[in-house]
Amino acid sequence: MNSIIKNNSEIKKIIISSKIVKDILNYVSKYIKEGISTGEINDICHDRIINYHKAYPASLGYMNYPKSICTSINDTVCHGIPNYNIILKKGDIINIDVSVCKNNYYSDSSKMFFINPINYSAYKLCNVTYRSILNSLKYIKNGNNLNLIGYSIDNYIKKYGYSIVKEYCGHGIGKKLHEFPNILHYKNNCNILMRSGMVFTIEPMVNIGSNKIYITKDKWTVKTKDKSLSAQYEHTILVTNYGYKILT
Ligand code: MF3
Ligand code: CO
Repeated sequence: MNSIIKNNSEIKKIIISSKIVKDILNYVSKYIKEGISTGEINDICHDRIINYHKAYPASLGYMNYPKSICTSINDTVCHGIPNYNIILKKGDIINIDVSVCKNNYYSDSSKMFFINPINYSAYKLCNVTYRSILNSLKYIKNGNNLNLIGYSIDNYIKKYGYSIVKEYCGHGIGKKLHEFPNILHYKNNCNILMRSGMVFTIEPMVNIGSNKIYITKDKWTVKTKDKSLSAQYEHTILVTNYGYKILT
């Protein structure tokens, strides 16, 4: 059993892993332009994770997932599979989701990139989605109920008329990519207290339209039913006595 509370030596290793994820999202940003394929973006990340950082891309082989990152464009909610035939074009918004394992410890983060010019409505969706995470952080400290995060995110995005996807959630992380507890991004009655040393992800998927989704025939790609845009950001967060630390 993996402990829900990490000790200092474990936290150090998750921090090392988190720096790698952060570097990958920063490094790949200069390649994300009109005309590049998501297959090529995958290869750039894969190569840097393995050869530069000597780490392992946690998605590769995870439940038979075939690639090293997820690339989710426009109405794709999450788990888009990189492909040489999927080419970025002007106006696209794309989530790049990177999870790595280094020294047996995991980290996970994702963010949106814009192929400018993009519509203001797309920009606003991404901006509000990121701010919904930042706003929820003020509820994170030792002793608080974990469900405050979901309340906060749900309230925040609803002010803009957006909807939150309920089928996927954040998760504890450390010795495995997905550990207990689940972090729900909507109002819920889970009754778990945050404890200093807990490490988990917050990764809301926010849609402009309805929160109804479906999985395509590749068995991974998740899309909005109404074809409305979806955005997601993800950070790995450490709970401390007095608050939190964003590790990614
Ligand atoms: N990074 C995603 C998460 O937040 C999932 C990666 S595993 C994959 O959990 F196989 F779905 F890519
Ligand atoms: Co995650």
